Amino acid sequence: LQNTGSVVFFTDFDRSQGNYITDADGNCLLDLYTQIASIPLGYNHPKMVEVLKNDKNWALFANRPALSSFPPKEWVSKLNKTLMSMAPPNLTHVQTMACGACSVENCLKSMFMVYQRQKRKGQPPSAEELQSCLVNEPPGSPDLSILSFKNSFHGRTMGALAITHAKWFHKLDFPQPRWPVASFPYLRYPLEENQRENRIEEDRCLAEVEELIEKYSKMKQPVAGICVEPIQGEGGDNHATPYFFQNLQKICKKNHISLMLDEVPVSKVIKEDNLLSLVRETGRYLLTSLEDAQRKYPGILSRARGLGTYIAIDFKDGATRDAFIQNARLKGINLGGSGSVTLRFRPTLTLRKKHVNIFLDVLHSLLAQMK
Ligand SMILES: Cc1ncc(COP(=O)(O)O)c(C=O)c1O
Repeated sequence: LQNTGSVVFFTDFDRSQGNYITDADGNCLLDLYTQIASIPLGYNHPKMVEVLKNDKNWALFANRPALSSFPPKEWVSKLNKTLMSMAPPNLTHVQTMACGACSVENCLKSMFMVYQRQKRKGQPPSAEELQSCLVNEPPGSPDLSILSFKNSFHGRTMGALAITHAKWFHKLDFPQPRWPVASFPYLRYPLEENQRENRIEEDRCLAEVEELIEKYSKMKQPVAGICVEPIQGEGGDNHATPYFFQNLQKICKKNHISLMLDEVPVSKVIKEDNLLSLVRETGRYLLTSLEDAQRKYPGILSRARGLGTYIAIDFKDGATRDAFIQNARLKGINLGGSGSVTLRFRPTLTLRKKHVNIFLDVLHSLLAQMK
């Protein structure tokens, strides 16, 4: 029915609860990977179940509204109450999409539209543009590009794939546009002790971005926008500091091009249950514990890093990382990797110290065997 090579185990979702996932054989595991970071509130959270059981909500799914033409009468108030209520300041519009890759696809199109609209200076498209776009020829299909970053992941549809550069198996055999790809910063940890080196590294990447924008303009394939993940997940949990993103924004403003930040937002329960402060507290505990472990096992672990509980640590090589994940699963902890040597934590937002302690017991017993 599907590629079985990627299946880890079959899940019994009825018997999974909160931070614990149950497999088809009834084994219950502490889940620090949570469907690749897709269920922030954990399994079968009562508020999520309530939303989906609500008659008004399931009627929307069942009737599949064509939102552009026949939106439901509650649509505007629903969006204002949910997504707009947590939109960052000055972001005044929202558009919903069915999945991450569709959002990226539509964002790419918006970036090109904004670029062309600026170029037309308020004039309508010419008859030649309207005709030539139908056969993928300029000027209607202009030679524009999007700048993205090495090790990025934006999805598997063709446009999103063009700006994805994490792993060869996402891309091999597909024709792709030759668009500019810049280096994403590779930071040293702990951040406080490496501020000078990290600033040099971020400046190097920013300079590369500017050089590529100039190069592609000279090549007559100007950059219409820049796409970036605030934290590169799939590519290895690579972070950059606010300095990097603020300067990226300045570069976009200077060149009159768009900036896309590809990240997943959060929900009402997060505010109500004050989950962010719990995440900060649990995250600090997990990160400090990992830093202790890397001090104890410097030959195996390095670069403990993260924000909240979005945490990662590197192993000395990919084989050791993969063996660790496998053995941890046998001891009741579900984990996942990213990049080539990284272990990534993607727990629910309801994770507490008691859960971290269960993981730490397993971590130390496995590391002691590996020494
Ligand atoms: C940063 C980022 N963008 C886009 C996507 C694609 O999302 P989806 O799988 O919903 O298409 C992902 C999925 O992991 C992602 O991590």
